[in-house]
Amino acid sequence: MQDNQVQIFDTTLRDGEQVPGCKLDTSQKLVIAERLDLLGVNVIEAGFPVSSPGDFTSVSEISKIVKNATVCGLTRAVENDIKVAAAALKYAKFPRIHTGIGTSDSHIKFKFNSTREQVIERAIKAVSYSKSFVEDVEFYAEDAGRTDNAFLAKVCEAVIKAGATVLNIPDTTGYCLPEEYGAKIKYLRENVKGIEKVILSCHCHNDLGMATANSIAGVINGARQIECTINGIGERAGNTALEEVVMVLKQHPYLNLSTSVNTKLLYDTSILVRESMGMPVQPNKAIVGANAFAHSSGIHQDGVIKNRETYEIMDPEDVGVTESAIVLTARSGRAALAYRAKKIGYELTKVQLDIAYNAFLIIADKQKEVRDEGIHGIMKEVDKVSKIAVT
Ligand code: KIV
Ligand code: ZN
Repeated sequence: MQDNQVQIFDTTLRDGEQVPGCKLDTSQKLVIAERLDLLGVNVIEAGFPVSSPGDFTSVSEISKIVKNATVCGLTRAVENDIKVAAAALKYAKFPRIHTGIGTSDSHIKFKFNSTREQVIERAIKAVSYSKSFVEDVEFYAEDAGRTDNAFLAKVCEAVIKAGATVLNIPDTTGYCLPEEYGAKIKYLRENVKGIEKVILSCHCHNDLGMATANSIAGVINGARQIECTINGIGERAGNTALEEVVMVLKQHPYLNLSTSVNTKLLYDTSILVRESMGMPVQPNKAIVGANAFAHSSGIHQDGVIKNRETYEIMDPEDVGVTESAIVLTARSGRAALAYRAKKIGYELTKVQLDIAYNAFLIIADKQKEVRDEGIHGIMKEVDKVSKIAVT
C-alpha cells in the first residue's frame, strides 16, 4: 500500500444498517455489497455476526461473493462473538475481525463497572483470540474521542503487541472538534511504540455535524483509513459520509492523499442505498442530494451558464450526475429562462425574451418552480405576439 493511499472502510451494512428503518434482508445486502466492491472500497464491514442468525448469514453470504475488498465482521471483546465472526467470515478471500471495547472513563465505569487495567486485559485477550482465526485484526477503542490520550496510547500499544493490524479511533459520540481529533491521531503517532506497524483508522459520528471534518483532520495527521457509510447513514446523526470524504480528497490534490474509489459510481450507489433502505437523502446533502448541483438564483445561474466553474467546485459528471440543473424560480433571471427554453427547442430574440420573462415572473411568483410544461405555456403566449424560431 502506498503511503498516500487512504483506505475506505465502508460500514453501511453494519453501522448504517443498525439504524431503525434501515434494516435490510440478506438479498438486499448482497446487492449493496457487490456494488461497494465495484465502487472500489477497500473494506466492507458486512455486519455483526453474533447479533442475529440473519446477520450471520448475511456476513457469510457476502464473504462468498466479494471479490476485491476485505470483508469485516464486528465483535465485542467477547470470545463467543469472535468465534462466531470467524465462522461467518470463513469464505472471505480477505477476512478481517473488528473487535474492541470502550476505553473512556465513562464507558469503563458505567458500561463495564470495571477499571482501566481490566479493560486493557480484555482488549489484549480479544485481539489475541481473534489472531487465532485471522491475520487481519482491527481493534476499536470505543469512545476514543472522549478517552484520555495517555491511556488511549497505552491501550494502543498493548493491542499492537497482541497483533492488531489496524487501530480504530472512534469518535463514537461525535463530540470532537477537528483540531482535537487531528491532535489525538498525531499524539498516538508520536507516543505509541510500534505505531508504524499498523494503520490508524478514523471512525467519526456526526452528532455535531463534524464527522467529515474530523475524518479529514485524522488523515491529515497520519491516519490512513476512514470508516464511513453511503449517504452518511448511521447511529443517531449518522457516520462520516463516504461520498464526502472521497470527494474532499479528490478535490484537494495538494493534500497528496487519494482513494481507490471510482467516484463516477457515487451517485448511483447513493440511489441504490436510499431506495433499498427506504431512507431518503435531504435535498441539500453534499455530493448526492437533489440540489447538490442545482442552481436557482439569477446571479448564480448567469455565472454557471457562462462557465460552470464560477459556482461549482466539482464536475457533476465526476460523481455520476449527468449535468448541473438550472432550476427556474422567481429568483431566476433572463439568462436562465433563455437557457432552459433553448434546451427544449426555443431560440428567443431579445424582444421575445423580454416578453417571455415578464410572463414567466407572473407564474414564478405563484409557484415554487417553473418546469418545462410551464415554459411551453409561456412560449405559446410569446408566439401570439411574435413568431418564435423553434430549433
Ligand atoms: O462508533 C463506534 O464506536 C463504533 C464501534 C463499534 C466501532 O461503531
Ligand atoms: Zn460507529
